Amino acid sequence: MDYTNLKEAAVFASRFSYAPYSAFHVGAALLCTDGSIFTGCNIENRSYGLTICAERSAVSTAAGCGKKVFTAVAVYCADSPSPVPPCGACRQVLSEFCSGDVPVFYAGRDRNFKMMTLGELYPEDSLHDLKQN
Ligand code: THU
Repeated sequence: MDYTNLKEAAVFASRFSYAPYSAFHVGAALLCTDGSIFTGCNIENRSYGLTICAERSAVSTAAGCGKKVFTAVAVYCADSPSPVPPCGACRQVLSEFCSGDVPVFYAGRDRNFKMMTLGELYPEDSLHDLKQN
């Protein structure tokens, strides 16, 4: 499976990032079961805690358009010298719609994407029994 388009979508989405406080411009892309790709970027706020990460922005857009199963994830940040994997909160949110074997690609400015599965990034995932339907 070639994930070039997914990685490029994450790079492209980072251009729309609103990050006047951190100057850390992040893009994320999600591959859906029908082959479509949804993207997001981080949107900061002057009330800092209201900032939403690129990954959760992408999840909100995709899920709001009816796409609730993702088979791969890509994250990119041009402002980081090292690869940027999803933060803890985003790992939890991704785990709602991704199984543990989903590959998560992440890169910094050199675009040299590393890959770990979501299960590796977020082991001992819990609370799935709370689902009612
Ligand atoms: N950020 C993301 O968008 N995704 C991550 O996984 C890490 C952090 C954003 C949030 C904030 O706007 C900036 O990067 C610095 O933390």
